[in-house]
Amino acid sequence: MPTLKIVPSILASDFSRLGEEIRDVVEAGADMIHVDVMDGHFAPNLTLGPPVVASIRQHCAVPLEVHLMITNPEEYIEAFAKAGADTLLFHIEATNEPLPLVSRIKELGCKVGVVLNPDTPHEAIKTCIDAVDMVLVMTVNPGFGGQAFIPEMLDKIGHVRAMLGEGDLEVDGGIDERTVGQAVDAGANLIVAGSYIYNSESYREAIDTLRSAAE
Ligand code: DX5
Ligand code: ZN
Repeated sequence: MPTLKIVPSILASDFSRLGEEIRDVVEAGADMIHVDVMDGHFAPNLTLGPPVVASIRQHCAVPLEVHLMITNPEEYIEAFAKAGADTLLFHIEATNEPLPLVSRIKELGCKVGVVLNPDTPHEAIKTCIDAVDMVLVMTVNPGFGGQAFIPEMLDKIGHVRAMLGEGDLEVDGGIDERTVGQAVDAGANLIVAGSYIYNSESYREAIDTLRSAAE
């Protein structure tokens, strides 16, 4: 099984103190930081863009992954790469040509991940799974933090793990001390958690609890 990593999503953090909120979770043991970009079209919410990613890059001592919940991702990948994203995650539902998009992201010097919405079957990534560095299986519908984990996604995680072999498989949405074990048992190794971490009194305790529940 590839290495387990805990990846806080800043969506649930205090945006008025973003730098501090990132330094605090990194100090508390975060392995990577997850940034949610939404455009009000692909996902029913608006969040942030490249200038904010460039600013937080200065405050982030671990890799930064940017989850693009946007239509026309090809138009924005360069700006996010220049802003300092280490990994760019695009939705398979947002493109008809995943392979050129994967190549372009790699040319920009970033790692690349492909994301599946809850309603999208695992077969949708068949043509690009060998070209990407990781797969993200959404365990809620994109748009908001604090939603409930969709248990039907566990089967999909299992299918994607079987397709991936030893590659990185991430889950995002509704992760807490109870659902993290189910996701890891099904095959996930990268664990995004937003509200579970940022709504807790102690970020360190929250991250430690997720890690031990996963192990
Ligand atoms: C949802 C986002 C998630 C979100 C997860 O559209 O992609 O990254 O921040 O939040 P929680 O962990 O609260 O479900
Ligand atoms: Zn996300």
